[in-house]
Amino acid sequence: MSLYFQTWSAQENPNQLEITGTSETDYILKDGSTVYDLSSCSYHLGFGLRNKNLETAIIDQVTSLPVAGPKTVFPLKDQVTKRLLSKLGLEGKLFYTTSGAESVENALKIARNYSGKTDILARKVSYHGATIGALSATGDWRSDGHLTLSQNTHYIPEPYEKDALERTEEIINAVGADNISAFILETITGGNGVYIPTQEWWDGIQCLCKKYDILLILDEVVCGFSRTGKDFGFQNFKLSPDIICLAKAISGGFFPFGAVYFNSEISKHYDKNVLSAGLTNYAHPIGLKLCDEVLNLIEDQSFQDNLDQVEKLLSDFKENVQSFPNIKEVRHIGALMAIEVIEQHFSWKVFKENGLYINVTGQNIIICPIMTTDLKKLEDALNKVKNLLNKA
Ligand SMILES: Cc1ncc(COP(=O)(O)O)c(C=O)c1O
Repeated sequence: MSLYFQTWSAQENPNQLEITGTSETDYILKDGSTVYDLSSCSYHLGFGLRNKNLETAIIDQVTSLPVAGPKTVFPLKDQVTKRLLSKLGLEGKLFYTTSGAESVENALKIARNYSGKTDILARKVSYHGATIGALSATGDWRSDGHLTLSQNTHYIPEPYEKDALERTEEIINAVGADNISAFILETITGGNGVYIPTQEWWDGIQCLCKKYDILLILDEVVCGFSRTGKDFGFQNFKLSPDIICLAKAISGGFFPFGAVYFNSEISKHYDKNVLSAGLTNYAHPIGLKLCDEVLNLIEDQSFQDNLDQVEKLLSDFKENVQSFPNIKEVRHIGALMAIEVIEQHFSWKVFKENGLYINVTGQNIIICPIMTTDLKKLEDALNKVKNLLNKA
């Protein structure tokens, strides 16, 4: 047994992959065989396990400005911030972090501080990160036993449940709007099953935000940076978030990095009030440089063309498999898909034995391909999945 812990598992016989290296889309194993990554690992390596542009960006940054403290000001910091805000298409400010959980943590902390209210509304079918605050907003099994702020967390009905909006309003009234700081919602659920809310549901949520003076925090840690076919998940809807949590693909997963967007009103509040938040590695230059390069990548026409083809291959795959007897539903947007099965015959290990890296959560098999993948390799991998699903 190793002397370091494996995450989210009992330490005896955990899911693990012993590798000697990686290619753009594959893990290379000791015996020379390869495992193709159909989940972008933890949904963060969207631009490949190897990527020349991102690797060069790191080297360039290390040889120009490798480190800089949180209070330093330098052109890259201004330039990337402006560029990311412009990509979001929103006015306001950014706060930098080093992970998804820290983005969520700081979003919740600042929302509570700004509003002077303590409670949040969250969804049961959700994951927001492994820190105590982020787990207190998380609804899936990972929050079991860690819901430290449980008295301040109230779970609303899932968007697809009957009378979801009416029942959400009842919860607001029962808790008291004066106590509720924010909704925290994954714009499109990631690892918990790719649930895509309707515009009608979002309209209802935004109405409740206005009526009861509640902030809207979107968790775009998975669905940001082109994953859903748009630059950001919220751009698939008519949506005006107050706060947006970003991480994972923001640096292509090549460096621990994240950011939180705050609207102009919240940002202005801290012109005169102390922003009681910060990190030692705030706005790390390597993270900033990678974010800049990720923005270059997603603006590149050849990336967009490949992404369109990835989306098409997934659409065709959905057409092919959705009528299989063991399949309950296939949900798909952009380069993100959940295959919900009736009976789960597939574990991470089963896919691994078939040369595929695919995350499985409950009844859902999550397909989240590397967006820069060779298309033939993706087609072959999807055919393998189809054959496995057909046999089940
Ligand atoms: C939607 C969502 N939010 C937040 C996080 C937490 O990100 P991190 O693991 O970088 O802390 C995750 C991680 O999987 C996630 O899927």
